[in-house]
Amino acid sequence: MGYSEIVNKTILFVKSKLENAEGGHDWFHIERVYKNALLIADGEVCDANVVKLGALLHDIADSKFHNGDETIGPKIAREFLESENVDEATIQHVINIIENVSFKGGNAEKLFSSIELDIVQDADRLDAIGAIGIARAFNYGGFKNRPLHNPNIAPKLSMSKEEYKNSQAPTINHFYEKLLLLKDKMNTETGKQIAKERHRYMEGFLSQFYAEWDGEK
Ligand code: ADP
Ligand code: NI
Repeated sequence: MGYSEIVNKTILFVKSKLENAEGGHDWFHIERVYKNALLIADGEVCDANVVKLGALLHDIADSKFHNGDETIGPKIAREFLESENVDEATIQHVINIIENVSFKGGNAEKLFSSIELDIVQDADRLDAIGAIGIARAFNYGGFKNRPLHNPNIAPKLSMSKEEYKNSQAPTINHFYEKLLLLKDKMNTETGKQIAKERHRYMEGFLSQFYAEWDGEK
């Protein structure tokens, strides 16, 4: 079976798996990351099939929704790719991407590196910033029943993963703790360019937000 057929089957598989996923991690998130990844891959020398499969499978089972179990996603992805007779080197590379793509914590030591991981990671990060990023942040904050903003609660730059998950910090703080830091963490030239625009858009959003918060005089 050729790769384009494997990619098509992976699309169907991921769509069915994510049928009941919450808004920030649904099929449309995967579709946006997939498109971002193809765009970025155009400017890089890379294995496009690994990029496609990595982008499609990167959130197949987010540990946040599986009691923190980080092994479920890679396991589901491996079983699927094996059932499609994908070669072992490609499977292992895709698994490495799934295991290393997340920016959670941000400072986690990178145990694996490849241009294909860099591309999928940039593509995923782009979906966390800009207009979509703003929408996803407030959607996630709503899911956790967090306040939009509280001027008395300052952003905290170094929280443990556990602390972060349980925090009732306002969603606006997430911009300072993560979203505004992403543009300087991009790996690829294309990723950096797009991130710069989206970063500017978030800054504009924040200044408008504060103006409205204060009651426009
Ligand atoms: P990804 O699945 O893309 O690797 P995450 O699972 O960390 O990213 O987060 C998914 C989305 O939820 C992102 O858009 C992220 O900004 C948002 N999010 C994560 N944590 C918070 C938070 N504490 N407050 C607001 N939004 C958050
Ligand atoms: Ni993602």
